[in-house]
Amino acid sequence: MATWLMMICMMIMPIFMASFVSADPELLQDVCVADLTSGVKLNGFPCKTNISADDFFFAGLAKPALTNNTLGATVSPASVQQITGLNTLGVSMARVDYAPGGLNPPHTHPRATEIVFMLEGELDVGFITTENKLFSKTIKKGEIFTFPRGLLHFQINNGKVPAAALAAFNSQLPGTQRAANALFGSSPMVDDNVLTKAFQIGTKEVEKIKSKFAPKK
Ligand SMILES: *[C@@H]1O[C@H](CO)[C@@H](O)[C@H](O)[C@H]1NC(C)=O
Ligand SMILES: *[C@@H]1O[C@H](CO)[C@@H](O)[C@H](O)[C@H]1NC(C)=O
Repeated sequence: MATWLMMICMMIMPIFMASFVSADPELLQDVCVADLTSGVKLNGFPCKTNISADDFFFAGLAKPALTNNTLGATVSPASVQQITGLNTLGVSMARVDYAPGGLNPPHTHPRATEIVFMLEGELDVGFITTENKLFSKTIKKGEIFTFPRGLLHFQINNGKVPAAALAAFNSQLPGTQRAANALFGSSPMVDDNVLTKAFQIGTKEVEKIKSKFAPKK
């Protein structure tokens, strides 16, 4: 009996351990290039049969993106949506460009830890733990910072010149949830009384913030 239990434990253990160290599921084959057009719903995407090198290629991060938007920062993803060959591989990247003063606002990636490498300029970055402790740092060209999976984090360019960073994720599709947009710009809207109580502010203030984040029709 005890031997049986031990054998079962030994068989199951690596599965648990693998799920602790990898964000996305383990590979069961060499490649599984995503068929993004398939109607089949599963964890990830179904595999295409006719694949080529182009399914693993993307030039979209080669150049800085425009940053003339409200926040002065633009995230350009290179996830399974852009590189279908990433399906089931458990990794992806993104490039973020920042105008002087540009902010990548507080957000989380529910499925991935992020590691950023500074391409240009300087950023003030930080993440906040579940115990509300802020870990922040100024990072410059060539330096790296890490944002643990699921934790709220942000980056701001307090410098006088543009900045750019390359981010890597241990998920093919890390997902991004921006705190302000989620709470004040959801569809349908979160009730005002949830937000007045949560943020200890009045309905007018809630409505004002909501008006800035209302989803575009
Ligand atoms: C496979 O894809 C290529 C383009 O990527 C296309 O030229 C070719 O016709 C496709 N072959 C089949 C059998 O669908
Ligand atoms: C940003 O700049 C580009 C080119 O300079 C322009 O085409 C675009 O309309 C601008 N976008 C905004 C939101 O101002």
